[in-house]
Amino acid sequence: MNLRRTKITAVSHYLPERRVTNKDFEKTLDTSDQWIFDRTGIRERRFVEKGVGTSSLAAIATKQLLERRGIKAGELDLIIVGTVTPDMFFPSTACLVQEKIGAKNAWGFDLSGACSGFLYALATGSQFIAAGTHKKVLVIGADVMTSIVDPEDRTTCVLFGDGAGVVLLEPAEDGEKGIIDFILKADGSGGQFLYMPGGGRLNPASAETVKKKMHFVHQDGKNVFKYAVRGMAEVSHEILEKNAIPPDSVRLYVPHQANLRIIQAAVDRMKIDPARVAINIDKFANTTAATIPICLSEAAENKTLKKGDLVVLASFGAGFTWGSVLLSWEM
Ligand code: ACO
Repeated sequence: MNLRRTKITAVSHYLPERRVTNKDFEKTLDTSDQWIFDRTGIRERRFVEKGVGTSSLAAIATKQLLERRGIKAGELDLIIVGTVTPDMFFPSTACLVQEKIGAKNAWGFDLSGACSGFLYALATGSQFIAAGTHKKVLVIGADVMTSIVDPEDRTTCVLFGDGAGVVLLEPAEDGEKGIIDFILKADGSGGQFLYMPGGGRLNPASAETVKKKMHFVHQDGKNVFKYAVRGMAEVSHEILEKNAIPPDSVRLYVPHQANLRIIQAAVDRMKIDPARVAINIDKFANTTAATIPICLSEAAENKTLKKGDLVVLASFGAGFTWGSVLLSWEM
């Protein structure tokens, strides 16, 4: 089978207006701006207002993307949403976004890869273009983490934010490389360190599950940190080695934004110039599936990237899931 090359042709993001600083948490929790910043690199994050769902953030980002690309929603073939905070179990967030933007000719589905959700979705979406069966695939990473984080748990609630990022995938032109390679991994034995036990088949919602706070993120931060440092650094290194790309040929390294110290460890390991690393964790914290497309969208807005620049994306998240994508920027 003759596979087509795939490229990103448009990118956009949306963050809710409401800013919550570390200082704001000092009012309700035994924490401090200093502690949060020193341990994570986070200064502030954005939170949605009550009643605003993941599909709304994703739809706003997507409408802007369609305008930027100059196409109509009806031209989209497929919508894939990486998220762990769907508006509801079903219908899928992809269907809700389809309705909100009027993408009448697209089908779609949600993909659960936690912080690696966007990379999993990007790799999945690119297969539909490569196979030649689809021409315009929307890949969204979006999460409203405030819906699953315990506002009374200082060990988790300060780490996350809400947001959405989106890219459009289309067939590359002759001579364009587009998405060059991806390496995706999973290790289910890591599930015990980062999970949300309530709401699924094993612990359906009840007064008891709510009382036991089972509908919130539970994590062993130290273990997640340890595996994330190793996983993200190794997979980023691996994709460069596999493709014989020297680190100084990479124009932009876009790591998942979970903790500045995790990012720094990966950057040290890869020997990449820190000036070529996308960092916005200070402004938006960890928006789970949205961090990478938000970084890409900011890089496009700031004109950091030009056609032909090499970009490495890398993630690590619950599952454990992790991975890396190597691409040539073709916009
Ligand atoms: N403010 C003040 N003190 C706090 C806070 C807080 N917000 N949170 C925890 N502490 C306390 C702890 O209770 C502990 O106190 P103790 O020593 O009296 O028990 C102390 O600070 C040290 O806690 P540690 O957990 O050892 O702190 P650590 O340096 O490991 O940092 C952190 C914690 C930031 C959570 C870190 O482990 C981390 O980032 N882990 C990765 C988790 C993550 O990123 N998860 C996101 C999802 S997965 C992903 O995106 C990769």
